[in-house]
Amino acid sequence: MNRRQFFAAGGLAATAQAMSAQGRPAHSADEPQFKTVNLQADGLALNPREYVALLGKLVEERPPQPDYYSTGGAVEELEHKFAQLLGKEAAIFLPTGTLANHLAVRKLAGADHRVLVPAQSHLYNDSGDCAQTLSGLNLIPLAPGESTFDVAEVRSWVERSAAGRVATPVGAIVIESPVRRKDHEMFDPGAMEQISSYARQRGIRLHLDGARMFTLPYHSGKSVRDYAALFDTVYVSLWKHFNGASGAILAGTDGFIQGLFHTRRMFGGSLPQAWPEIALIAQSADRFEDDYARAWKSANELIALFESDRRFKVRKLAGGTSRFFLTVQGTAPAALIERLSQKSVVLSQPQPDTGMIPVQVNPTLLRTTPAALFRTIVSSL
Ligand SMILES: Cc1ncc(COP(=O)(O)O)c(C=O)c1O
Repeated sequence: MNRRQFFAAGGLAATAQAMSAQGRPAHSADEPQFKTVNLQADGLALNPREYVALLGKLVEERPPQPDYYSTGGAVEELEHKFAQLLGKEAAIFLPTGTLANHLAVRKLAGADHRVLVPAQSHLYNDSGDCAQTLSGLNLIPLAPGESTFDVAEVRSWVERSAAGRVATPVGAIVIESPVRRKDHEMFDPGAMEQISSYARQRGIRLHLDGARMFTLPYHSGKSVRDYAALFDTVYVSLWKHFNGASGAILAGTDGFIQGLFHTRRMFGGSLPQAWPEIALIAQSADRFEDDYARAWKSANELIALFESDRRFKVRKLAGGTSRFFLTVQGTAPAALIERLSQKSVVLSQPQPDTGMIPVQVNPTLLRTTPAALFRTIVSSL
């Protein structure tokens, strides 16, 4: 089906239905569009009507070229764009980050099936053991409970693996940063550099799960290219920050990426038409880092207002990125969250153990002013 057929067949309505079926909140027809301040999301969390409106506008102004089984057209353009943004020779589109991480470690490890991974990582916890089950890899979890592991821990596993009765060399090492299960804290950049140079000396391949890595430059002063240069392969999510309906980029050398589309198809990961999923991403990627910096400027003004009022307490994380925590005194958080949702402000539920509300900084903060948002929150206490 081409673009025209897609519209004629009511494909937009189908897209809209599919998106609300993913567990995002249902949106009523009279809800104001592009107004919600969503302090739970990584990006704009477009609702189906917003997504369709932006897609329709784009199709009128700069029609995306359809792809075929995720090759050519808009997909190929996006692959080139991200290879360039990341300073890598080549990139491949994959329908999910779960598959991107899996295909990366599968190919990097090759015949050396032992792979060192962060115990807190998505690959180790949230991927259904795909790498173990489908690719026969042995994942060794490092630094349970921590955002970072150091080169000494890596070295000790590499040496232990080399010294076993049966040679079982480490084939690859994975790092995730920011770390989703640690409230988006950064993996320590110094430790990352040391691990990278050790891995290179030993000929061990290195993969970065950088699903949300475009927030790192603002917090660390290092560019996404600086980070990517330390790794053989890098995965970036296309739907978390960049408003895709889904998708992931895996970038590396020409030699690594070449031919990977066969493996993508083998795993059932070549969408026959990916363009509706990815059409909005290029524009969003171009502006994300600027928008994110402006969103933090706004967040810091909001935090100053919270700190001037005794009913609120704010906690930031050392080494944190996109999240801070808010504690509210004298109001049940659940009631506040419900009242705010009526005013197009979305907040996460508080953590059960601490009562702190995680607040996610993203460009939806730019849809209002810090003072207006503070007034809305205070009037909902
Ligand atoms: C750090 C990290 N890696 C990988 C993934 C997987 O991405 P996807 O949901 O596109 O499979 C996620 C998704 O939540 C993630 O947070």
